Amino acid sequence: MKSSDFIQERAAAKINLALAVGNRREDGYHDIDTVMHSISLSDCVKIRPSHTMEMTVKGAALPAGTKNLAYAAAELFLRETGRAGGVSITLEKHIPVASGLGGGSSDAAAVLRGLNRMTESGLSADRLRQMGALLGSDIPFCVEGGCARCMGRGEEIHPVPFWDHLALVICRPDFPLNTPEAYKEADRRPGRALLHAGRMEEAVRLRDGEYLASSLFNDFESFLFPITPALKETKIYLRRWGCPVLMTGSGSAFFLLAQDMETAGEIAEKIRAERPDWFAQAAQTTGDVSHGAQ
Ligand code: C5P
Repeated sequence: MKSSDFIQERAAAKINLALAVGNRREDGYHDIDTVMHSISLSDCVKIRPSHTMEMTVKGAALPAGTKNLAYAAAELFLRETGRAGGVSITLEKHIPVASGLGGGSSDAAAVLRGLNRMTESGLSADRLRQMGALLGSDIPFCVEGGCARCMGRGEEIHPVPFWDHLALVICRPDFPLNTPEAYKEADRRPGRALLHAGRMEEAVRLRDGEYLASSLFNDFESFLFPITPALKETKIYLRRWGCPVLMTGSGSAFFLLAQDMETAGEIAEKIRAERPDWFAQAAQTTGDVSHGAQ
């Protein structure tokens, strides 16, 4: 491959249709039980062969070095496959950062997929997931995306047939949230009831919209709403559009389940007009992302 040729990978965001947070484990992580789905909102990762490690980030003020998960993923892949030299990565951000949409995790997974292709290493998806798990709990899901019930600290993937083309509005208010702090809130609630994502898995398998809407839940809402009034107010505001609304991951983004893409587009436009500092965009659920390379 010439250094002028590049490999391109789509890095799809995810939403958590249901998210139960369990107890803190000895390793400091929390057991979770969640149903995740990939969505059309995506970053774009381009990778070129290079003698040194280089990274450019467009569209967001993010570090372009070892602190960036995509960069760390490239270093890990090259080390694990015994390759000298580096790669040049260009990351075009469209997914809001620190929002529970898994953007950083998906960028890292896209780098692993892209390097596997570029170097013709032929590593299995399982191997890429194992590598991803070394860097972050959501990366294993993002290697193939689609829909899955994820357990353990998030890295145990149980695939569920995806339900694509569900119309969504993705909305992030103008403040980020901190994931480790959000998990700490769980520890301040000893003895709380532990939930599971089994109903949501069933709803997706049955493709039953009403069942899905009634199975939406995210434990982080009950942890964070009492201490972050702006987050609760965001949900109250978003409810006015008459659709089911749920926070994704540890926030601060929410998704609305819209009737169709036209309605989703209209709602997103109205939110942008009323809340110009917020991110609001129509999107839809998508299937396996690992074959969407261009
Ligand atoms: O795995 P990841 O690096 O994305 O997690 C970031 C932080 O979120 C962890 O350091 C931990 O504090 C918290 N976390 C957790 N339980 C999980 C996933 C993440 O406590 N299942």
